[in-house]
Amino acid sequence: MTASVAPTLHTCWPLHCAGEAFGSDPVRTPDLHWLALGPQHLPVLAEVDKTAYSHPWSERHFAGSLDSGHLLQALVCQAAPVASARSSVLLPGGLQLLGYLVALQAADEVHLLNLTTVPACQRQGWGRRMVHTLTEAARGCAVTSLWLEVRASNAPALALYRSCGFQAVGRRKGYYPDTDTQREDAIVMTLPLSVPLP
Ligand SMILES: CC(C)(COP(=O)(O)OP(=O)(O)OC[C@H]1O[C@@H](n2cnc3c(N)ncnc32)[C@H](O)[C@@H]1OP(=O)(O)O)[C@@H](O)C(=O)NCCC(=O)NCCS
Repeated sequence: MTASVAPTLHTCWPLHCAGEAFGSDPVRTPDLHWLALGPQHLPVLAEVDKTAYSHPWSERHFAGSLDSGHLLQALVCQAAPVASARSSVLLPGGLQLLGYLVALQAADEVHLLNLTTVPACQRQGWGRRMVHTLTEAARGCAVTSLWLEVRASNAPALALYRSCGFQAVGRRKGYYPDTDTQREDAIVMTLPLSVPLP
């Protein structure tokens, strides 16, 4: 008799996300799909993180996540013609990077550790799409709740997570580095997966 293996976030992750469920636009974003990130992508991620955060992850942070078996996935599409893509970010292999996330599964919980939309691609729905894909994959492997921390001053991220159904359930004092002399609080947010998505 073979023992059944419980599904994990990795095995539930969709290879492709083009399609009706995510409202994709195959004309505007040809060959939209998810890419599992590896060591060859980390320099680009660290560069993008520098442009998106006051306190970015370094290549070492991303490498640590890979080594720990966390989920590292990027939303990518076919690169636009050079003339119209001056601010786009290309990955090795020539795909255009739209955004990426890092998440870890611990028993029946998933923790979102990094969610970033490439600055030139923000406010186009990619952040919400990434959160929804993570949520659906988590549901698929019997996860009961998603968790994350976000800087108290990060209004765009707070608005995104609220619009995806997350609720603020706590505050961690001085959780993040800020200036040389100050630290910033984190808002702890959770999404129980027994409730349907908004
Ligand atoms: C937060 C972040 C991931 C949002 O990604 P995005 O792709 O721009 O988000 P979307 O276009 O999917 O927007 C979804 C919703 O988020 C909210 N939102 C996104 N950007 C916003 C902004 N600048 N101001 C206010 N609300 C914003 C809105 O509610 C938006 O819905 P709407 O467009 O219908 O109003 C992106 O701003 C980012 O990468 N920021 C830097 C890194 C970061 O802070 N990551 C989060 C760490 S916890």
